[in-house]
Amino acid sequence: MKQKRVLSGIRATGRLHLGNYLGAIKGMLALQNDPDFETLYMVADLHTITTPYAVEELKKNRREVIIDYLAAGLDPQKSILFQQAANPHHAELAFYLSSVVTIAKMQHLPTFKDKVKQHPQHATMALLNYPILMTADILAYKASDVPVGIDQEPHLEVAREIARRMNQDYGTDFPEPKSFKSTGDYVPSLTGEGKMSKSVEGSYVNLVDDLETIKAKLAKAPTDSGKGTLTAMVAGVSSLLTFVQLFEGKEKRNAYEDAYQKEGIRYGDLKNELAEAIFKELQPIHEKRKELEANPKEVDRIIEEGNEKARTIAAETVNEVREKMGLL
Ligand code: TRP
Repeated sequence: MKQKRVLSGIRATGRLHLGNYLGAIKGMLALQNDPDFETLYMVADLHTITTPYAVEELKKNRREVIIDYLAAGLDPQKSILFQQAANPHHAELAFYLSSVVTIAKMQHLPTFKDKVKQHPQHATMALLNYPILMTADILAYKASDVPVGIDQEPHLEVAREIARRMNQDYGTDFPEPKSFKSTGDYVPSLTGEGKMSKSVEGSYVNLVDDLETIKAKLAKAPTDSGKGTLTAMVAGVSSLLTFVQLFEGKEKRNAYEDAYQKEGIRYGDLKNELAEAIFKELQPIHEKRKELEANPKEVDRIIEEGNEKARTIAAETVNEVREKMGLL
């Protein structure tokens, strides 16, 4: 019997990039191979509608994210891969959970404020409910571990608070979920400012990028003279060194830091080598993706099977909540 459940998801806003891969998927892969855990990974298509989106894009992306999961090595024999919106229990549970959360609490979350700044015309109720829906995603499976990037910590804090409140007020037995950290849980932007993000042009490398594209993107990353003290290094260079560490190892990074303080770094060489290292890691993913694209029926079958399994587990939890809340 598996002891613990893991749940994670990625929004269906576009193609996955290295930030998703290092920050979330690597952790998902590690946990899927750990016999102590039952792992559930979804595409957060309901969360996608909390900010402006195009219907046709969403339709495509909610399938593409699952293909990206499969290409990256998530295995339907080991993990339940599913679409959030194919499981009506998530939205239902979110409504029940919203009864133990105040509006003020949600309005003060930094993640909410950031999104309102990005989309001032779209400060919707769905956006305000974002963390409660995410909590429902996790609690529907009573998951205790959640592999996500560090930026999701405020949402996990909300999830823990809701779990506590539900347990106290209604006698449920939700675990307080915690994030599962993988090595690259903070992936910087190629521009050197903030994190790698789909919404910032020039900040990311996509999982599907070929070697030429990766080289071109790295070529645009800001650098300096190549020499100086480490503390005075521009942010773009320290981001590049973070990527060197992630894809070529800590020793390689140390060697570059050494060079920076002595003979200087030649960024052309650094960027070429780094592009090759990144591409080497992505190549098997590209190959697997091609296979999957040639087999749409198989992909459909995997998605249907995952959706069905997820619905069965979530239905049980929601039934229990309804009963404990006096709604059954
Ligand atoms: N909010 C997460 C993100 O933007 C995506 C997400 C939705 C999620 N539901 C989840 C992550 C449940 C973990 C668990 O990255």
